[in-house]
Amino acid sequence: MAFSGRLITFEGIDGSGKSTQLQLLARLLGTAGYDVLTTREPGGTQLGKRIRAALLDGEHDSVDPLAELLLYAADRAQHIRQLVRPALQSGRIVLSDRFFDATVAYQGYGRGFQLDLVHQLNRLATEGLTPDLTLVYDLEVAAGLGRIRDRQTGSSVEQPDRLDREPLEFHQRVRDGYHALIAADPHRFRVISAAGSIDEVFERTCREVSTVISLTGSI
Ligand code: TMP
Repeated sequence: MAFSGRLITFEGIDGSGKSTQLQLLARLLGTAGYDVLTTREPGGTQLGKRIRAALLDGEHDSVDPLAELLLYAADRAQHIRQLVRPALQSGRIVLSDRFFDATVAYQGYGRGFQLDLVHQLNRLATEGLTPDLTLVYDLEVAAGLGRIRDRQTGSSVEQPDRLDREPLEFHQRVRDGYHALIAADPHRFRVISAAGSIDEVFERTCREVSTVISLTGSI
């Protein structure tokens, strides 16, 4: 069935700054009069919050890779049925901090699961729902990991999660995975350089979003 809302997803390696950009865009769209839902994967629902904690709070080797793959899919199935689909059906703009492309990049390219299997699981979990636009915040892996380290030493002492602690090569494979996804579907994906200040990156974000939604009002 057709949806009247819009789904925009935010992707990128850890430390790319996508979550800050999502919040800034939500504020701007809210001011322009749109009904906006901000959400994330994993963790957009109550069940998802528990799955997120199980996935990310643990020790380095405490989650088996297959269990990890299936838990992300379970989080997504709940998220889409309970939150995303109803919001789109009622005409809202949904901004999701990560979506199924993250499973392709992290579990497919990062962990090495067969891409066919990952795509199949994604189709099962999403029931075919695809974002209208996917913004990929692109940054050198070392710079992304450096930002995460800075956050931990800054005023908001944030602990690295289980995936943040993966080696640099893992994050490099994830970044390569995003590049492969972008090359395969340049219509849905927009690459945004995540280098520079928050304001500079937000200008780039607005430029891309304005191709699918008027930033001054009305879809
Ligand atoms: P976040 O820090 O961007 O909220 O994402 C949480 C972590 O979960 C991040 O390291 C990426 C990872 N992740 C996957 O490995 N597969 C997925 O399908 C999703 C949605 C996230």
